[in-house]
Amino acid sequence: MITLFEKDKHKNIMFNDLSTGKMIQANQHFIINENEGMVLDPGGHKVHTQLFAEMTSILPISQLKYIFLSHQDPDIIAAVNAWMMMTDAQAFLPSIWIRFAAHFGIDELVEKRITLIADEGRTIQLGNVTLKALPAHYLHSSGNLHLYDPVSKILYTGDLGASPAAPYPVVENFDAHIKYMEGFHIRYMPTTKALKMWLNMARTLEIDIIAPQHGAIINKAHVVQFLDWLDSLEVGVDKLGDAYTVPG
Ligand SMILES: [Fe+2]
Ligand SMILES: [Fe+2]
Repeated sequence: MITLFEKDKHKNIMFNDLSTGKMIQANQHFIINENEGMVLDPGGHKVHTQLFAEMTSILPISQLKYIFLSHQDPDIIAAVNAWMMMTDAQAFLPSIWIRFAAHFGIDELVEKRITLIADEGRTIQLGNVTLKALPAHYLHSSGNLHLYDPVSKILYTGDLGASPAAPYPVVENFDAHIKYMEGFHIRYMPTTKALKMWLNMARTLEIDIIAPQHGAIINKAHVVQFLDWLDSLEVGVDKLGDAYTVPG
């Protein structure tokens, strides 16, 4: 567990060591303001058991107000039914994924507590802070949200900025860090156009930390380098060859 920010009654906490076995390393993030908390991209069942136990050390279960689901992947949403059955929290999900999320066994009783977020994003009030759920579609998922916290100035970027195999929690040397991000971004991010659109939006924000869902966080000293690196990338379909061929 790492505290990314703490001031007055505002806290940002990251769990980065709960992934086990063959599962991709994933970070689970909490934002706490006053007596209200939000968990971001809480992950699958094995992580749920541990994270739920750990959570009680930072936040009473009754104060978990929101579950933020950036997109529909299993490393984010697989245990959402358990989270909702065991808490009174309200979940947020990009609107295009609700019928798919139902396959993770979402009970009809808790489905009413899922708020769908339209493509343009929205604000979310947590205690005294107005969080911003930002559009980040096709980065990588076709319905994809990021979250900006204007108090800590942390931008939660889900799979963007992911470095699943990075052997450290905080980037110290950005140039040496690129090798942990590059292959993932070229393959998993489907289109350079979405990156450019996102960069235009991200550059209007004051960012102290980029906090992805996998791997190391990027501190203020390296934020501009990170944005410029993304700007230099060509990804996904823009790097495809000319034809698929039938195997055999
Ligand atoms: Fe994903
Ligand atoms: Fe992910």
